[in-house]
Formats: sequence, C-alpha cells, structure tokens
Amino acid sequence: MADISSRLTGLRDLTPPDRRARVVQAAGLSEQDAQILAGADVLRMTLADGMIENVIGKFELPMGVATNFTVNGKDYLVPMVVEEPSVVAAASFMARIARDCGGFVTSSDRPVMRAQVQVLRPEDPHGARQRLLSARDELIAMANARDTVLTGLGGGCKDIEVQVFDDTPVGAMVVLHLLVDVRDAMGANTVNTMAETIASRVAEIARGEVRLRILSNLADLRLVRARVEIAPAALSAAGLDGADVVQGMVEACALAVIDPYRAATHNKGIMNGIDSVVVATGNDWRAIEAGAHAYAARGGRYTSLSRWERGADGALMGTLELPLALGLVGGATKTHPAAQAAIRMLGVTSATELAEVVAAVGLAQNMAALRALATEGIQKGHMTLHARNIAILAGAEGAEVDRVARAIVAAGEVSVDRAARELALPRD
Ligand code: MEV
Repeated sequence: MADISSRLTGLRDLTPPDRRARVVQAAGLSEQDAQILAGADVLRMTLADGMIENVIGKFELPMGVATNFTVNGKDYLVPMVVEEPSVVAAASFMARIARDCGGFVTSSDRPVMRAQVQVLRPEDPHGARQRLLSARDELIAMANARDTVLTGLGGGCKDIEVQVFDDTPVGAMVVLHLLVDVRDAMGANTVNTMAETIASRVAEIARGEVRLRILSNLADLRLVRARVEIAPAALSAAGLDGADVVQGMVEACALAVIDPYRAATHNKGIMNGIDSVVVATGNDWRAIEAGAHAYAARGGRYTSLSRWERGADGALMGTLELPLALGLVGGATKTHPAAQAAIRMLGVTSATELAEVVAAVGLAQNMAALRALATEGIQKGHMTLHARNIAILAGAEGAEVDRVARAIVAAGEVSVDRAARELALPRD
C-alpha cells in the first residue's frame, strides 16, 4: 500500500458520509470498504449467529477515525470504536502536537505467549522441576508437532520455564510454562492446544497430576513500547506557558506512579485509546485489559503503565510499556467485515505493527488527559463534546448540533432541558 497522510484537516466539520469518503480516499480503500465502514448490516445474522451462542441480535457502536498519527515515521489513520465522547478528538489532537515534534517511536518484543501446565501432588517438586527442564527438547518438539504451519512461519514453541510453589492451599505445586512465538496470531488457541498436547507427558515426567492447561494473559514476553518527546512550546494551554504545562503533567504522573487510586484512573485513560483500536480491529479487549493491569501490578503494587518526565532541555518525555497480545489472523479479526476494513484502513501488515500503533494511541490518550488535568481540568473539554450528545438527545440535527452545543456550554448548563429551549429559539 502506498504511504498515506494522516493529516486530514477539517474532518470534524463534515457529515459522517463526507468524512468517510475523505478517509476512504486518503487510506486508498475500495468502494466496498466504504460500504462496510458505513456499518449498514455489515455483520450478517448468519455470521453473528456463528460467532457466539444464543444470538438474538447485534449491538452497534460508533466508529471514529483518529487523524494525525505518525509512528516510526509512517502515517496512520486510526479506527476507534468507543462510546465515550472526547476520546477520538483527544487522540487526534495530541497526535497532531506529537507529529510536529517527530511523532511516536515504538519497539516491541517478539510475539511470545505463555501457556501454563499445573502439576499437583508431585512426589518431589524440585526433582520434578529438574526432570522437566531436562526434557525441554522433547516437550518443545511435542508441542510443535501440533502446529507445523506456525513452525513453518518461523514461530512455535521456543522454550520452557518451570516454577515450584512449595506452599499453596493444596500443597506443593509445579507449574510449567511453554513459551510460544505465535507470529501474527493473538495466540490463545495455539498455546492452549500445545499445553493440552504435552499435559500427560508432563504429568509422567513430574510424577504428579496435571490440572490446568491454559494460556496466561500476563503476556510479559510480548511487551510493546511507545515514546514521544514534545517541545514545551507545543503544550501551552489555558494561559499557561509550555514549561508550566510540562511541570504539571510530570507532577500529575507522579501521583499515578505512587498511588493505586490514581494509577487506576490514569491507566483507564490509556486504555480508552488502546481498547478503542483493539475493538475496531476485532481483537480480544478483555485479554488486553487483563494483561495491562496485571503488568501494572507486577512489582507487588499497582502503578502507572506510563511515565512522564522532563528532559534536560525542558522537553516532555513520555513513555509507555505494556503487554499487547493482538492478532491479525483468527477470531473476529478475520470474520468481522468491519474489523477487516479497519485493519485495511490502518494499513498494518503484521500483528507487531498493529500493537505498536495501538501503544502509540494509548500514549497519546494519556498525554491528552494529563494535559487537560494539568491545565483547565477535564470537564471543560469533556463537556463541550458531551454537549453535542445532549443537543442530539434534545432533537438537534446537522448544523443545529454545534449551535445548540455551543450555546448550552456558554450558558454553563449542559442539560437536555436547556438544549431543547435553545433548539426552540429562532436562528438569526
Ligand atoms: C476518562 O475516561 C479518563 C480520564 O479520567 C483519565 C485520567 O484521569 O488520566 C480523563
């Protein structure tokens, strides 16, 4: 695919069909993709019925597009599916500031997932551990025999780890981890199958009984990192100069680093960005949430997933690191037509590239929240966008939405009642 520009100005002022046309053109998508992104009965009932059980219908959410993203020098138009106002606007705004400062830079580990095999009542737990480690090659070969397609692609089981828990509520326990490079898959099915395949041999070698055989969502070998460096002048807001905003953002982050009460909210803001892209691309957002929060607590105390620091020249330095078990093959990423169109819009060609863009969006979202919190507070921007929802609820359409929203914000009364009264006023 040819390089695209993610800098689409004036998108906000267009109608949804006109916006879609601009995005489709900018991303080089087909007319068929345009139809799919429009969302009219895209997920056929027969398809939906095959995806989960007891299907009775479908549930719609808006899909927006975040603009301005530059990641590792490449532009991306980012599909975001989310119900919360201001998420898409905030990501786009911060991406615009970031692109003028060189954009986001990312890196990632190989896509290695863990599967656990739990061994109960081992005769000699520490001896079992050593016997299992000695059988490493045999166990890896056994696991890989189940997925020759994956090994043909350069993936597959690469190693094992074994842990002993001497004292648990049910006695001593040995836990074997299979470390599997799952390439472009999220990997749950692959690693679960491998764990089940080797289970009885593990029980034999360990001289115990196997119970659980399942992946770990704490995908701490599949970490993705994003960073950004922002010149202070680019951050000035609400009458504050850039250096003050940098100072405020660094101080705001410090609370999330030391205090789980703040860290939960801070990380929720990061996940606003991450989940929206994860959902749009048909990925398992519960797995991503579980992995992110478990990783945030890995040191024994829940903390911030990101860090914001002041560099030597006063620049704001933001970094984010978290596990991202995302796939481009399998599951809804393959079966849901809108997820497929979203992936084509992004123009990513590997799960790793998708994960790196997702991490950049998470960092942008976090930057937006901290900038707002460190300056005018979160409610002003939030309310301005929320007011659009209220205006629509009161019956406003088209250009009326903005007019009514602006009026109720200016009046400091963002309510349906006030919006209805504004709507009834004659226009000049
Ligand atoms: C709201 O959805 C997210 C924020 O609360 C995040 C934060 O406080 O950092 C604004």
